[in-house]
Order: sequence, then structure tokens, then C-alpha cells
Amino acid sequence: MADPEINPEFQRQVATRRTFAIISHPDAGKTTLTEKLLLFGGAIQEAGAVKARRATRHATSDWLEIEKQRGISVSSSVMQFEYEGQTINLLDTPGHQDFSEDTYRVLTAVDAAVMVIDAAKGVEAQTIKLLEVCRMRDTPIITFVNKLDREVRGPLEILAEVEDTLKIDCAPVTWPIGMGKTFRGVFHLLTDRLMRFTPGQSRYDKSAELIQGLDNPRLDELCPGEIDTLREEVELIRAAGSPFDEELFLAGMQTPVFFGSGINNFGVQEVLQALIDWAPPPQPRDGGARDVQPAESPFTGFVFKIQANMDPKHRDRIAFLRICSGRYRPGMKVRHLRMERELRIGNAQTFMANTRVRTEEAFAGDIIGIHNHGQLQIGDTLTDGERLAFKGIPYFAPELFCSARPKDPFKAKQLAKGLKQLGEEGAVQVFTTELGRLLLGAVGQLQFEIVAHRLSGEYNVDAVYDPSDIYTARWLSFPDEATRKAFFQREAAAVAKDVDGNPVYLASSKYNLALTEERWEHVGFRTTREHGEVLA
Ligand code: G4P
Repeated sequence: MADPEINPEFQRQVATRRTFAIISHPDAGKTTLTEKLLLFGGAIQEAGAVKARRATRHATSDWLEIEKQRGISVSSSVMQFEYEGQTINLLDTPGHQDFSEDTYRVLTAVDAAVMVIDAAKGVEAQTIKLLEVCRMRDTPIITFVNKLDREVRGPLEILAEVEDTLKIDCAPVTWPIGMGKTFRGVFHLLTDRLMRFTPGQSRYDKSAELIQGLDNPRLDELCPGEIDTLREEVELIRAAGSPFDEELFLAGMQTPVFFGSGINNFGVQEVLQALIDWAPPPQPRDGGARDVQPAESPFTGFVFKIQANMDPKHRDRIAFLRICSGRYRPGMKVRHLRMERELRIGNAQTFMANTRVRTEEAFAGDIIGIHNHGQLQIGDTLTDGERLAFKGIPYFAPELFCSARPKDPFKAKQLAKGLKQLGEEGAVQVFTTELGRLLLGAVGQLQFEIVAHRLSGEYNVDAVYDPSDIYTARWLSFPDEATRKAFFQREAAAVAKDVDGNPVYLASSKYNLALTEERWEHVGFRTTREHGEVLA
């Protein structure tokens, strides 16, 4: 339903958006790269040296107290900046595996991803998981191999590992010269130029000497010990490797690979340039009834994240909305499809590196923050009025469970309220058993700790968390009412309801699950459920 009336300025605005996330195993250098990208984008003036951050446990992109205490990225955040005429939306993802659900949701809101790999460690467990998620949506991926200023693994070995483990074709764009103490820089395979590395450089030195051509005798002078290996490797890569192919990249089948050192600001600008030149503008989205094109004029978007306490002074909760089409203007009225009502977005926020400002205008690809007083949940679709439901934001069946009860029995209401809100934010999944017991379900143990911390800090409820022997949960769907009744009668002790009232089966073991599935062959046992979906 493209709108032919749409003006060229609107088209330009959409075409110049780039929305991406950085993914990595913890410690590979995601935070460092984020900071350096923000630095290049002029969004911050000085990278808060990561070391200093770790010492004080404070970074521009870290909000939660617990995150500061632990020095891990628990919450994801959103940052917008301008670079070379493009509007870049950078979405931070928690690297820690316990928050993979959150990361998954963030990845539904981007059009591309940057994967950071520690050159000493190669492909690590969490990278594998995150890449699997990107692959589900064929998200184009740019790879940054980091920490070349250390003694690391050889570039050929790293590429082979990425290709074998992640099953993605690698097209090196830059090639490292030496490593560790003898790291001299990278050779750009497309422009045929050496970019020299100067350790400790805090900003990219545009006046640095660029040496053109692999045969240039200046190379022999500058890197006498490394030049033979460089020539051999480049020859090998050019003869046997895959050249960069934009179509394969956009299809998520090939990744351009850059080598560098984030902490030294080296190789970062090339990654940013690749995002500008190659990463796609906002892409069409599956709106359920039809695909929504980014340059359509009717406004559409979906909520992929709810974040609380971004400003500790104001107990606020922000719903992050990815705009899929149209234009946001302050005060606009939209249709809230799940609640079947109109919603006025008076004062949306745009997030920069360390500030947020009132959004005056936003387009497809942009992420806006909406003050949320409980009316918005993850997965909600907002439109100009059309009946759409953006897909692809699932809940995953939890694998860890515990039950919660208040220490002070008079605080049962606060506990239920707190858990309901935290459940809506996606911090944890909350189930209520037939007997009224509150169960928390998580993918990772840290989620429980955060919930406990927040319940006591924000809701003033200290709770007792009893471990539970539940093995996993499955969302149930029934072929007819009679089967539903029969199931509830027979399995009552193992049935609960999720936040939206959907029935779930709580299996006590793998064996128990298999047996129940066998017994009820017409009942659906699902490992995921879409946000907002009400099961039959
Ligand atoms: P993360 O967000 O992916 O978890 O990683 P982060 O950027 O926090 O970086 C993890 C560690 O790796 C940090 O050290 C950081 O200084 C270091 N690092 C990042 N990029 C580079 C690089 O290009 N070269 C080198 N040598 N190190 C890099 P840390 O955890 O603070 O430890 P420490 O260095 O202070 O002991």
C-alpha cells in the first residue's frame, strides 16, 4: 500500500535511517566499540575509558544499579546520533546469557547487527546463540574482530572458525598486519591501502599516512617483519576467499569482516562506514495482515522493550517503540490494537548517548520512548487505525523456576503488583497456579536476582523465594472446549496461567513432559508464545 503522494523529503528521511545492534560474548569489547562509535558520531566528546567505567561501574549506557554493581550490561539501551547525513539508531544488547530473551527482543527491532569477536578467544558460546537469532530473521551482519593489539590468533584461523561454527561466509574487508606488539595496522582489501596503527590514539588521525598498493616499497620499510606474511595472506585471500558481495550480505549469508582494536580506536571508523554504505535502510515488516513498507505514510510501530528506572529521580517506565512506517509528531493519536482504544503520544523521547530529548519528529527505523503507565506491553502494535499486529516477539519457555511469597503477609498485594509490572517489562515471566501460588520463570538465574533487587528497591517488598522443581513450561492450546475441560480436570496440579491468562503446563521432568504430550496427543504444547497472543 505504497503512497504515491509521499514527498521526497519523507522518502529521504526514511532512506537515511540505519538501525542496528551490537552483539558479542561478554568481554569481547561491545561496550568499548559502542563508546567509540558514539565518539565518531560526535554523540559523546570523550569515551569514558572503559577501565574507568569498570572501576566506578558507571557507563553512559548503563542504568540499572545492579548493572553497575556487577559491571555487566543487564538492560539494553538505545542511542541515536547523526553521521555523514545519516541518522543512526544504535541498540545496545545485554551480552550476558541470562538476558538472552531481552537481546532477542532488541534484535527484532533492528535492520542490521555488528558482531564483535575477541581475536584471542574466537567464536564464543554467546556469539553462537546471538547469531542464531539474527539468522532467524536473515539480519545482515558486519563482523569486527577485536583486540589485535594483543597476542591473538591468526586471522585465517579466526575466519575459518567463524565460517565453520557460525555457518556464515566471511568476506574480509581489512586484513591485519601483525598483532600484539607488532600490530602495524590493517590493509584495506577494497581500496588497496594500508592504514597505520598508532597505539593509544584517542581519535582517528585523518592526516596519518595512507600507503597505496600492496607492492609499495614503503610497506617494506614500515613493516619489515610482517610484510611477507601480509603479502602471502592477501594473495591467498584474493585467490581463494570470497569477495564482498552486497547482495549476499543483505541476505544475511555473507559477513564483511574488519580487524582492529576498539580500545585504541583502530578499525572502528571502517565499521561505521560499512554501516552507512552497506547496511540496509529500514526494511518492510510483517504486520500480520500484510507487509508494511517503511515509506508508507500511515504511522505504524511496535513495542519491543519496556525499561524502568531510566531516571532514578522519576520512577518512570519507558516503552521503546520501533517505528515501522510513517512519521511521529508530538501529540499524535494512534490506535492501540491490543486494548482497542485510542492513545495520544504527547511527549515521546529520543535517546542520545547520555541525554534524552523530546522527539519532535521521527521516521521508520527510529526508536522512540513513550512514557508508560501500564498501558503498553512488549509486543503491542500501534497504528493510524489499521488492524495490524507485528509479529516475531516471542516469550521463550523458561527453564528455571522459583515461587515467591512476601515475608510480610500483608504485602501480598504489592508483591502481586510488582511481579505483574516486572512480568510486563519482560524482566521475568510470572505464572499463577490453580491454587494461587505465584511462580517466577526465567531463562537465566540473574533474572531472579534482579527481580528480587527491584521488588525490594522499587516496590518495598521483601519476598521469600523458594526453589521449585519444575523442569519447564509449555503453552497449551486445545482443539475444543471438551478437551480443555478434561485436561484441566486431570492435570490441575500442573496447570498455571501466564500474565495474559494463557494456560501453561508445568512439567516436573523431561519424562513427565513426554508422557503428558503422549497422553494428550491433540493438545498443543508450545515452547514459545508471541507477546500479546491469546491462545485458543
Ligand atoms: P563487553 O561490553 O563486550 O563486555 O566488553 P568491554 O567493552 O567492556 O571490554 C572488555 C574488556 O576488554 C575491557 O577490559 C576492555 O578494556 C578490553 N578491551 C576492549 N577492546 C579492547 C582492545 O581493542 N584491546 C585490548 N587489549 N583490550 C580491549 P576490562 O574488563 O576493563 O579489563 P581490564 O583491561 O581493565 O583489566
